[in-house]
Amino acid sequence: MSYDYFEDLLNQQSVFKDESKLDINFIPEKLPYREKELSLLSQLFLSLLKNPNKTSRKVLITGKTGIGKTVTVKLFSRILKQAAEKRNLNINPIHINCRKERTSYKILVKILQFFNPNIPNRGYSFQDLLGFLEINLNNTNVHLVIILDELGYLIGQNDEDLLYSLTRINDERYNEPLKLSLIGIIRDLTYLDKLDVSTISTLQRNIIKFSPYSFDQISEILGYRIEVSIIENAFSEETIEMISKIIWRNADIRHGLDLIWKSAKIAESKNRRYISPEDIRIANQGLIPFSIHEKLKYLSSAKLIFLLSIVRQLKNGNKNKVTINYVLEDYSLLCENLERTPKSYSQLWNYLQEFEREDLINLSIVSGNIIGRKAFIEILDTPLLKLKKIIYNILKTKGIII
Ligand SMILES: Nc1ncnc2c1ncn2[C@@H]1O[C@H](COP(=O)(O)OP(=O)(O)O)[C@@H](O)[C@H]1O
Ligand SMILES: [Mg+2]
Repeated sequence: MSYDYFEDLLNQQSVFKDESKLDINFIPEKLPYREKELSLLSQLFLSLLKNPNKTSRKVLITGKTGIGKTVTVKLFSRILKQAAEKRNLNINPIHINCRKERTSYKILVKILQFFNPNIPNRGYSFQDLLGFLEINLNNTNVHLVIILDELGYLIGQNDEDLLYSLTRINDERYNEPLKLSLIGIIRDLTYLDKLDVSTISTLQRNIIKFSPYSFDQISEILGYRIEVSIIENAFSEETIEMISKIIWRNADIRHGLDLIWKSAKIAESKNRRYISPEDIRIANQGLIPFSIHEKLKYLSSAKLIFLLSIVRQLKNGNKNKVTINYVLEDYSLLCENLERTPKSYSQLWNYLQEFEREDLINLSIVSGNIIGRKAFIEILDTPLLKLKKIIYNILKTKGIII
């Protein structure tokens, strides 16, 4: 008898087409809805190609977290470098994350590594390093585009020497070739207030503001990232919509990519080739927050029973949303078993509205008039299995055993 663990594992078909394409550092070929920003950057940096070393660009990029600032600048760097190479120009972008390289000193070392990979991490003064940078720029035929990402971290620590120096390094070189440009990425422009007036005015000349994606844009972007990383038909339109709804409030695409990765892992661990709504709920929240326990504890038995029906129908049907009519059958049955009178339709409507106010469910009303009133009920971010168990337990404490 042989143990073919590896053969088995290797033969198992994965839901992933290419897992690395969901990685935070992956730069996709396309960035839907950031074309405008890419084109704006290209216009600003065009002079570096047209009149090499005659201009020094300083650009500031701003906008909320997770809306593609970093990835857009990274893709732009690649495009710029390629265009320069085509023309035998040496333009080199250096991306630095100021959250990682906390100090001016460390950032300068990182920049200098471009010229000398073995530059020691200590032993020099900040001024020494700045001097090295100037010498290197003078002696080589390169134009550096220094990208200071998460710039707020540097400014927040009262360590602005570098920014001050980098914005001036060219200014003292009248008629000399200009060898350095700067792109700063900052979430909140108010950080700039801490800088000296002339640095502010230099940086503020070109600001590109990234606005958050709309709901439809989020869905499309996630759809695209799924297309390149996950096998076909594993995510349905409904499951993509569900993820979009979960992340919509913060509009952070990174959260969406995490959910895609985690829910796909969960599906895979169950040997499934598609992702179910429940996989997404579990991916989004391993644990039920304390607040939900608290909310449920104070609901009346009648409300809990109705909520339980909703949970059961979502869970059993493996659906991401159900209508009230769909739930009613299970609800009547449940009431019958418990020997309780079912609540009236309009009473249940009131319950639904209360559940929504408490953020236990999402309600989307399709048609408004009372008679044909139709609404979809969703539970987005709580795993149903856990929710069900909690409701069972609370009902049990009230003497209702299901
Ligand atoms: N338009 C887009 N198309 C594809 N992926 C995107 C897009 N915008 C953002 N992303 C992805 O979302 C994640 C967060 O983007 P990022 O650039 O890190 O945001 P920020 O720097 O604004 O916080 C990254 O993994 C990025 O690849
Ligand atoms: Mg970023």
